[in-house]
Amino acid sequence: MTPDTAAAMLTPTPTLRVRRLNTTLVQKNARLNLIRSIDFEVMPGETLALVGESGSGKSLTALSIMRLLARNAHWDCQGEVVFQNGTEPAQNLLNLSEHNMRKLRGHQVAMIFQEPMTCLNPVMTVGQQIAESVRLHLGLDPTAAKACALRALEQVEIPAAHQRFHEYPHQLSGGMRQRVMIAMSMVCEPRLLIADEPTTALDVTIQAQILNLMGRLQKDTGMAMLFITHNLGVVAHHAARVAVMYAGQIVEHGKVGDVFAKPQHPYTQGLLACLPGRARQLAKQSGQTVALQDIPGQAPSMNQTLQGCSFAPRCSECQTSCKEIPPAWRGSSEHKALCHFELAA
Ligand SMILES: Nc1ncnc2c1ncn2[C@@H]1O[C@H](COP(=O)(O)OP(=O)(O)O)[C@@H](O)[C@H]1O
Ligand code: SF4
Ligand SMILES: [Mg+2]
Repeated sequence: MTPDTAAAMLTPTPTLRVRRLNTTLVQKNARLNLIRSIDFEVMPGETLALVGESGSGKSLTALSIMRLLARNAHWDCQGEVVFQNGTEPAQNLLNLSEHNMRKLRGHQVAMIFQEPMTCLNPVMTVGQQIAESVRLHLGLDPTAAKACALRALEQVEIPAAHQRFHEYPHQLSGGMRQRVMIAMSMVCEPRLLIADEPTTALDVTIQAQILNLMGRLQKDTGMAMLFITHNLGVVAHHAARVAVMYAGQIVEHGKVGDVFAKPQHPYTQGLLACLPGRARQLAKQSGQTVALQDIPGQAPSMNQTLQGCSFAPRCSECQTSCKEIPPAWRGSSEHKALCHFELAA
C-alpha cells in the first residue's frame, strides 16, 4: 500500500463536495453569473455555516445543490456537487436525472427553508404530510408511516403531538410550523441537511430551542449540515467551519475560531468590525443572537462586469492592481481568503 492510498483510507469522505459551482441566469440579452466558482465540502456530522449579506447568493447556492432553482427562469448550473451517503458510490447531483433527484430529495438530502409556509401544503394536515413523505421514501404501509410521523412530531418536541398531527399548517404558530418542517426533513434520516436561515423569522427563545433541537438530532444521526444564517452567534456556537460569501463568491473559508479571531479578508474584517465590541464578544462566546451587520456601500450589481476583485469598490485596502486582476486564494486549506494581500487582523 502506498502512503497516498493509506492516507486516502484514513481520510473520511465528505458527505457533500462542491467544486467550481457556477450558476448563471440566462436572459435574452445577457448571462448573469450569480454564483461563481464555489468550492467547499461538508464532512459527516459536521456543520458548515454560510454567511454573507443579503443578495450574496447563499440561497441560490443551496437551491443549486438541491436542483430547486426557480422554474420561471432559465438557469445554467455547471461544476460538481458530489454527494456521498457513506454506503453507496458518490454521485454528482448535477448529472442525476430529475427522477433520481426526486428520490434523493427529502430522503437522503433534505432542506429546511426560512418560511415553512412555502413548503407545507395548506390543505393537508401536518401529520398526513410527514406520513406521505415516509411512505414515498421509505415504502412503509399507511399504519407504519403514521406511527413514524407521530414519532417524528414527538422528537421535535411538539406539545400534544397526537392532536397536532390532525391540524393544518395555518392552525400552528411560526415556531411550531418550523418544528414540523424539521420533523418532515429529518424523518427519513437524511445524510445531508441544508438549512436556509431556518430560525430567522422566530423569536430568540424559540430560535435557541430549535437550534438546540437540530444540534441534538444531528448528533444522533451523524448527518452533515450546511447552515445558512445571518446570526454570527449561531455560527460561533453551532458550526465548525464558516464560509463567507460576497457577490456570488466565497471570499473567506476557515474554522470558526480562526475566522473570528483573525479574519483575513477585508469584507469579513468589515463584517466583524461592524459589530460593537460587546456584540462581537457575545458572538464569540455565548451563542446569543448577534445579527450580521452590513458594511458601508453596496455590493456590485449582477449586471456589472468587474475585471478585478468584486469587493474593490468598497475595500479600504484596495490597490490599483485589485481593480484589474482577480485575486487568487491566499493562506492554507484550513483558513484562506480570496485577496491579493495578506492582512493583519
Ligand atoms: N429567481 C431569480 N431570478 C432572478 N434573480 C434571482 C433569482 N433568485 C435570486 N436572484 C438573484 O441572485 C442573487 C443572489 O440571491 P440569493 O441567493 O437569494 O441571496 P441571499 O440568499 O444571499 O440573500 C441576488 O442578486 C438575487 O436578486
Ligand atoms: S484583492 Fe484588493 S480590493 Fe479585493 S479584498 Fe483584497 S485588498 Fe481589497
Ligand atoms: Mg437567502
